[in-house]
Amino acid sequence: MKVITTIKDMQTEINRHKVPSKSIGFVPTMGFLHEGHLTLLNRARQENDIVVLSIFVNPLQFGPTEDYSTYPRDFERDRALAECEKIDYLFYPSVEEMYPHPTSIKVLVQDRADVLCGKSRPGHFDGVATVITKFFNILMPTRAYFGKKDAQQVAVIEGLIKDLNFPIELIPVDIVREEDGLAKSSRNVYLSSEDRKQAIVLNKSLIVAKRAIADGERNPSKLISLISEIVTAESNGTIDYIELFSYPQLKPMGNLEGTIIIALAVKFTKVRLIDNIIIEIH
Ligand code: PAJ
Repeated sequence: MKVITTIKDMQTEINRHKVPSKSIGFVPTMGFLHEGHLTLLNRARQENDIVVLSIFVNPLQFGPTEDYSTYPRDFERDRALAECEKIDYLFYPSVEEMYPHPTSIKVLVQDRADVLCGKSRPGHFDGVATVITKFFNILMPTRAYFGKKDAQQVAVIEGLIKDLNFPIELIPVDIVREEDGLAKSSRNVYLSSEDRKQAIVLNKSLIVAKRAIADGERNPSKLISLISEIVTAESNGTIDYIELFSYPQLKPMGNLEGTIIIALAVKFTKVRLIDNIIIEIH
């Protein structure tokens, strides 16, 4: 009999007794696939024997006044794109399949959910953590791929994996952008042509802030004001938030050092866009 005191050793030990298995890469999405999603799939394809893509517009992560019913959906188009990426399984459950009865358990995100998108979308990350927990339990993938476009989501999932002891490797993937710098998003299709032109201001203002940091600026409020001025001057968008935190802890910083994130959300006529930049400061 062996006595084991660490979770990691316990998992390693127990996995030795399971049938040797293939590595499984998992890419969760809400569909309406674009190059950002395809980059995650491509990476998963390179690193795993089996790739599973899920498409599920998760009602639990949308607030009552948000765009759940109008979220863009096109299954046949997504299926064809997934086919091109040589995905092994496309998991496309219905809402009834995922949530067959009133949910008795919900995952509550205690940390890192009261800032950024979590602040303006109360309950959003509980919905994300709940659906991802279900997917992890259903699939038990070796690796799970998430885009840094949703950097707070990456931080929350990192906490989920750690706190609930999922033996899963989280792979964060860089933001994929349009040629003019706008982060690719399923919601971009709802931008009017004028809003589309102005939407580049998110990325542009973050680049200016990055340059200011490279030039020695270390005051978070000054950096936030700088971004705010650019967004206000160069677009008609309404600023939802512009914030600067340590990453992935998402804690406010007095003096900038280590890894930081500057993130913003701007609401255009019909669409709320997010973007961020993660910077190492030495
Ligand atoms: P969705 O918005 O469809 O995004 C699916 C994955 O693609 C996320 O990990 C997201 O960060 C990544 N992604 C989206 N746009 C990207 C871009 N421009 N560059 C790189 N990665 C990008 O995020 C969700 O769905 C949901 O919250 C989900 C995790 C599926 C849970 O319901």
